[in-house]
This record gives sequence, structure tokens and C-alpha cells, in this order.
Amino acid sequence: MTPDRLTSRNLLHSYVTSDSLKLHSKMVATVMEGYARKLEKPDDTVDTWWTAGLLHDLDWEKFPDEHPKKAVKEILPEHNYSEDIIRAVEAHAPDRTGRKPKTEIERYLFACDEISGFMKAVALMRPNGFSDMKVKSVTKKLKDKKFAENVPREDVKTGAELIGLELRDHIQNLITFFKDKY
Ligand SMILES: [Fe+2]
Ligand SMILES: [Fe+2]
Repeated sequence: MTPDRLTSRNLLHSYVTSDSLKLHSKMVATVMEGYARKLEKPDDTVDTWWTAGLLHDLDWEKFPDEHPKKAVKEILPEHNYSEDIIRAVEAHAPDRTGRKPKTEIERYLFACDEISGFMKAVALMRPNGFSDMKVKSVTKKLKDKKFAENVPREDVKTGAELIGLELRDHIQNLITFFKDKY
């Protein structure tokens, strides 16, 4: 059984103080939930996907060098999170863990992480944020190497491929998930 959402939120807040990292965590959780619903997963799977999104950067602030291994090896197992969630967190950072995203939840988490951060940066530049955002406003910024330069464009591209979507459709889905919420 996946710990409930309140428990997971409390766990996140016990490790993360930065507002921007809390927001990023929430946004990735929203996207994971959005996709799980779109794929018509049962409710417990929707919760699992949401939780993987919420907790994927759990140890980033306190253990930046060990991220995400500290969470994968210690924190998440100690708090009774399922293997699905733990493996997904591990596979969102293949360069650090050596685990490539393979299962569905792993591929979706990888596909949703960097693009969510990137789109938040785009939203901040716009007077109306996500509400009137167009796919083009995002793809244009992706081509601008200086904009949010810490976001690896290669991972954004690979992510969409991993979930079998054209990048523009993936971005459109995220706009829909974020709209009216962020
Ligand atoms: Fe991460
Ligand atoms: Fe992240």
C-alpha cells in the first residue's frame, strides 16, 4: 500500500524547505496524475504515479551529491514506499543511478520531470502564465539555448520518445494539466 497523499506531502516537507522545489515536486505530481488518468489507470495506480512525481526529488536539497540514491536506498524504503515508486525515482536520473527508465511509470516520470521545470520557467515569463500558453511558446524557447540552460534539451526529447508522443503533443498535455492550477 502506498502511503496516503497527506503522509507523502508531510514527508516531502520534512526534507524540502525551498518553495521552488516544493512547487516543482507538486507540478510533476500533477502531470503524473494527469497522465495516469488519461491512460485510465485504476485509482490506486493514479495515487502511485502522483506519489512518484511528488517524491522524485525528495533528497535533492539535503543530499545533492547522493540524489536520488539517498531516497532510493534509505528514505523511501524506510517509509514503506513500493518498489514501483522507488524504481521510478531511481530511473528519473539514469546518469546518477545507472538505471534507465523502462517500465511505464519510469518512462512517464522521466518524460515529465525536465519539461515541467522548463515550462514553469516559460510560464514565469508570461503575464498569464499557463492559461493562454501555446505549444509554440514552449518549443520556441527550447530552441533558445540560453533560456533555462540547465534543462538538458536531449532529455526533453528522449522523454517524449519514451512515452511514444510527439513533443508538441506532450507539451500540449502538460499545458492542459497545469492550466488553472499553477
Ligand atoms: Fe532529480
Ligand atoms: Fe525534478
